[in-house]
Amino acid sequence: MPQERLKILLIEHDPGFARMVGEMLSQARELAADMKSAPDLNSGLTALKGDHFDVVVLDAYVPDGAGLANVSLVRAQAPRLPIIVAGEPNDEAIALESAGVDAIIASGFEAGGHRPSFLASAESSTIGTFVLLQLIKEKVKTPIIAAGGIANGKGVAASLALGADAAQIGTAFLVCDESNATAIHRQMLFSTEAKYTSLSRAFTGRLGRGIASRIGKDMVNQEKNFLPFPLQTKFMSQIKVAAMEQEQWDMILFWGGQIAPILKHTKASELMKSILEETTAYFDRLNA
Ligand SMILES: Cc1cc2nc3c(=O)[nH]c(=O)nc-3n(C[C@H](O)[C@H](O)[C@H](O)COP(=O)(O)O)c2cc1C
Repeated sequence: MPQERLKILLIEHDPGFARMVGEMLSQARELAADMKSAPDLNSGLTALKGDHFDVVVLDAYVPDGAGLANVSLVRAQAPRLPIIVAGEPNDEAIALESAGVDAIIASGFEAGGHRPSFLASAESSTIGTFVLLQLIKEKVKTPIIAAGGIANGKGVAASLALGADAAQIGTAFLVCDESNATAIHRQMLFSTEAKYTSLSRAFTGRLGRGIASRIGKDMVNQEKNFLPFPLQTKFMSQIKVAAMEQEQWDMILFWGGQIAPILKHTKASELMKSILEETTAYFDRLNA
């Protein structure tokens, strides 16, 4: 039976990017699609009036538009069509606010483990926590939770000073006895190895930060061979099991953030107590 062809409208001012999307679609094995490309918002809206489409892909930065506000213009023209918006991390905050979320996590690229990204690829969204926080603060009124590179009261206080409403801490709790991390994982995060972390898709298929191990370095430039998330995890888990058995620690990715080298606490209650005391002391000094 002939496959039904998907009709896509791409509103994109960069002809190189539009060409690349067209080429990718023509090579897609699972999808038969026809793409019409509109170089600006107005011609996109005109195309929507005249033609039937199944989906609109919109670049948030078309020059005659107004960022994510373009979404509502396209939505008014095509109330039932799925609209996919390409943008950058602070645009994600705007998109989340307009979707009515109660809080937004501003997750910087220092953070351990996976970091979320839904408008652009995670690789193109690598902004530090404190820059991201300030960019987002300028654009949204929704409460912001800062995450990435925060491990003590000074970090929490700095986040609050820059406009965060709360702080989220991962790696500092990962090294505590109460976490589900293995003993060797916690040991690695307290070792000098933790000075060097890197971002990779090698371990799960999704970009995440961990200690830069030998296997991670060996897999640099192999990206096109990685399986999509979460299948890559399954593939790598066999190696992990063998590496654990043989104690080949450099053949394992140990998740962790850039802040690991300053960590001290091994008890979650002590970590929490010290964060509260340090943050309070900082603000008490300011108010004195
Ligand atoms: C092992 C591990 C796995 C994580 N996985 C995810 C995830 O799947 N999705 C996500 O949004 N954040 C994930 N994170 C990020 C944490 O939720 C948190 O934002 C981050 O650890 C904060 O940065 P920090 O590690 O510098 O404290 C993960 C963190 C760790 C340590």
